[in-house]
Parts: sequence; C-alpha cells; structure tokens
Amino acid sequence: MTRKIILDCDPGHDDAVALLLAMGNPNIDLLGITTVGGNQTLDKVARNALVVKEIAGHPEIPVYAGCDRPLVRPVEVAEVIHGSTGMDVNGVELPDPSTALADAHAIDFIIDTVMSHEPGTITLVPTGPLTNIAMAARKEPRIVERVKEVVLMGGGYHEGNWSPVAEFNIKIDPEAAHIVFEEPWPVTMVGLDLTHQALATAGVEAEIKALNTPVADFVVGLFGFFREAYQQNQGFTDPPVHDPCTVAYLIDPSIVQTRKAPVHVELAGALTTGMTVTDLREPADDTCHTQVATKLDHAGFWNLVTEALKNLA
Ligand code: BDR
Ligand code: CA
Repeated sequence: MTRKIILDCDPGHDDAVALLLAMGNPNIDLLGITTVGGNQTLDKVARNALVVKEIAGHPEIPVYAGCDRPLVRPVEVAEVIHGSTGMDVNGVELPDPSTALADAHAIDFIIDTVMSHEPGTITLVPTGPLTNIAMAARKEPRIVERVKEVVLMGGGYHEGNWSPVAEFNIKIDPEAAHIVFEEPWPVTMVGLDLTHQALATAGVEAEIKALNTPVADFVVGLFGFFREAYQQNQGFTDPPVHDPCTVAYLIDPSIVQTRKAPVHVELAGALTTGMTVTDLREPADDTCHTQVATKLDHAGFWNLVTEALKNLA
C-alpha cells in the first residue's frame, strides 16, 4: 500500500537520508517537503532540501520553507553535529539547486494538503523540531482528526543527546512538542532508544559505496562528516542515522518494533526541560494515542535504504 506523506525536516545529514529513502521507495508517495529551522537556520536547511532532491533526480517534489524559530525559545542550531551549512560533506561537491522554494508557507501547505485529501490518508513525518506541525494544528485544528498518523523522530524514553535526558528536536522547541504529543492524533515517537541502533557501520558504508552512483557517493560523503562529528561530540564510533527510521517504519512496520505508552513533554524542569516523559508501566490506558519505537531490525533497515538508493541511481 502506498503511503502519502509530508516530510517536515531540517536537513541535516540524517534528514537527507530520510528524504532519499522516501523518494527512492515505491511505497512512499512524498507529496511535499517542508522545512523548519533546527540543525541549522531555516535558509540553510531549506536550501539543503533543494540540493537533496536535485541529487535524487526528483526536482518535481515541492519544498516549502516554514518557521525560522521555535514558538517560545531562542534559535539554537546543531552546528557541532551538522556543520556550518547544516549538511557538510566530506569529499563530494554538492550541486547548486536548479529549483526554487515553493511560494507558500510550510504550515499552509500542510493544512491545505491534509484538508484537500480524504480523512485518514495523509501521514506527517517530522524529523526536526515540531514548530511547523504545532503551528499547523493551531491554525487549522481540524487537521488533527484528518491526519492518519504522525510518525516523528524525536525524544527518547531512556536516552538524551542535547541534555542528559532530552533529545535535540524536542529540546529545541519543547512547547511545540508538547502541542504535538497532547493532540489526540496517533503519534509514534521514533526516539533515541531506537535510532541509536541505526548505526552506519563500516560494513553499511562499504555496501553503499559499492553502488558507485552519484547518490551513493553523496551518502558516503554525508556519513564521513557525520561519523567524525559523532566521534568528537557524542562518543560514538559509528554515527546513528536517526531520521530515516521513521520512513522505514512506514514502509515496513516489522523493521521497527513499538509499544504503546503515554508520552508527555517536560516544560518546566530545572534540569529536565524537553524530556519526553514516557510511562512504561503496564497496561497502557485505552485512551493512550502514543507509542514509542523500541527495537530496530538493523539489517532490514539498511537493506531498505540501499534498495532506495539503487532506485534513485
Ligand atoms: C535529531 O536531531 C538532529 O540533529 C538530527 O537530524 C535528528 O533529527 C537527533 O537528535
Ligand atoms: Ca533532523
């Protein structure tokens, strides 16, 4: 079954791989790419989205710029992880985009798309701070009951990376995350507990390199920079490629195990702001509309990514 999605992102190395997986898999219909300030400033991540679709050979997919700052808090970027462009690569020259941004705001594109399709047919896939999604839900509350589900990368029930207990996408705009988790639509939190299993090992990189295509070379260039950044800043040997885990789950749910659990975002913690407080006590209440990703099929995941890259060659 083909899934119609909007990918709301801040490319971003792993956002780029999420976009490539979505564009290269025949079961995903990527209706549009919306961008949000996160890993870098909005101008940079929006441009990076244009570059990624150029490399993928999909100039027809529209890219919309969205919010350039969190709802309440100041702008904070992840330059130490994603570099000064937000998508620094090793050893590859990136093309200039031949397309321009679409002439509408991301939150209007999200609203118009959801409202103009049959209820229960559009899935939102946020892989950056949740500012655009929260704004869309506030501007047009009827999208909440029309969206099929929200499958987001962010948070974690046991792990943090931007603080001991908070993950970057949630920590940057916790108020927006609060809105998204509290609305009654189905939400899947693909958090760090899952994405730290999505390591781009030397073996994975060698398989992608062997494809020997411009798209594969781009991904190898992304992994090169990402690996060094994760080694220097987070103590990882291989980089965790977070964002495409959301798309992989939509393509083949058997690759990402989940369990139902209530999730609430900490907004007032002295030390814990941005923590996704997850109640893992059993049984989850019948009214629970959130689930968390727990276990990744590493081989299955990378196989999906590699196949998508082949399709884009
Ligand atoms: C998340 O933060 C960003 O740096 C990545 O693109 C990913 O979405 C991981 O914490
Ligand atoms: Ca991201």
